[in-house]
Amino acid sequence: MKQWITRQDGLEKLELVDTPEPSDLDDGDVLVKINCVSLNYRDTEVCSGTFGFHPSADRKDEPIVPCSDICGTVIKVSRNSAYQKGDRVMAIFKQSHLTGQMKEQDFESLLGAPLPGCLTQYRVFPSAGLVKVPQYLTDEEASTLPVAAVTAWMALNTFQPLGSPLKGRGKVVLIQGTGGVSVSALQMAHALQLTTIVTSSSDEKLKRAQQLGATYAINYKKNPDWHEAVLEMTDGKGADVVLECGGADTLAKSFKCVAFGGQISCVGYVSGKDASSQMNTNVLALSRNVTLKGIVCGPKDRFEEMLQLYQETEVHPVIDRTFEFLEAKTALRYLAEGGHMGKVVVKVA
Ligand SMILES: NC(=O)c1ccc[n+]([C@@H]2O[C@H](COP(=O)([O-])OP(=O)(O)OC[C@H]3O[C@@H](n4cnc5c(N)ncnc54)[C@H](OP(=O)(O)O)[C@@H]3O)[C@@H](O)[C@H]2O)c1
Repeated sequence: MKQWITRQDGLEKLELVDTPEPSDLDDGDVLVKINCVSLNYRDTEVCSGTFGFHPSADRKDEPIVPCSDICGTVIKVSRNSAYQKGDRVMAIFKQSHLTGQMKEQDFESLLGAPLPGCLTQYRVFPSAGLVKVPQYLTDEEASTLPVAAVTAWMALNTFQPLGSPLKGRGKVVLIQGTGGVSVSALQMAHALQLTTIVTSSSDEKLKRAQQLGATYAINYKKNPDWHEAVLEMTDGKGADVVLECGGADTLAKSFKCVAFGGQISCVGYVSGKDASSQMNTNVLALSRNVTLKGIVCGPKDRFEEMLQLYQETEVHPVIDRTFEFLEAKTALRYLAEGGHMGKVVVKVA
């Protein structure tokens, strides 16, 4: 079989290699034929060697298969497997994180560094590391959910009890950008009837966001004081939840437009990692009684909780573009350039 490997030394050095198809299954394992892989910003960082916010990702001695998010079909089962041949499955990003708050050792179980990833034709998974695909979703659509959508779900619901997601027009969610996580957040927030404010560098993308249900839209390039626009749109109250994707350029402004007692869900850092020069976090957090929460995707049971909403509302994830398996390098480059809206998918089978 074929798989892509990286030595975490640059996207351009990603290499397609031949390797034996896996044949040994431990008790509970299944062999999955990978149908589609969706790409995340993190995958580009792993290939470039710049993902490094935890020591588990810093082992660069051996080449590794990148990427985490799949939809595949079970083609071989072992004793005590929870799946049958023919089942369509998605893999959970943190293979050991099944419920509750994340523990530090869960960092050891991330697919696509430090664990071998999924940009490959076949891969063995333990049953516990998989969830079933809702029937209405295509393989491409399902492959987009494990990281982007689950992260968005947790950004909204991390403090909500399981089974009781945030709901209703009275709650305002600020969503930064129109990448994979943000568009998933918009779609689920719309399905939950939350009020949404989306920011983007592109009027075109904002128009699309409004078609997807965004209540308000702000171009953050044309309006660098977007935090003030958020306050105006909410009659001075601010956003109850901020999906913080920007990092260095956005965090200080997020503090200025989060509601009193609100939550900033720190998800990413697409504009840079160091926001410290612009802000005094302790004073900002205190003065508006803000909760700042780091989100690292979510556990399996919250993924399944999210799938219930998808099932009930038949949300179709937004796919920007699909590439062939042999074009995986081009696909990762395309994602890294940032022109997309929603998810970029590589078709493997
Ligand atoms: N914590 C987690 O578990 C987790 C999971 C997934 C992703 N992430 C992180 O979350 C971030 C987004 O991931 P992704 O996969 O959605 O990335 P993506 O698909 O590459 O999207 C990135 C988007 O960020 C927007 N952006 C760039 N600079 C911005 C700024 N200054 N202010 C506001 N938006 C800005 C752009 O939107 P426009 O083109 O509309 O301007 C761009 O499309 C990344 O940092 C990623 O590492 C974290």
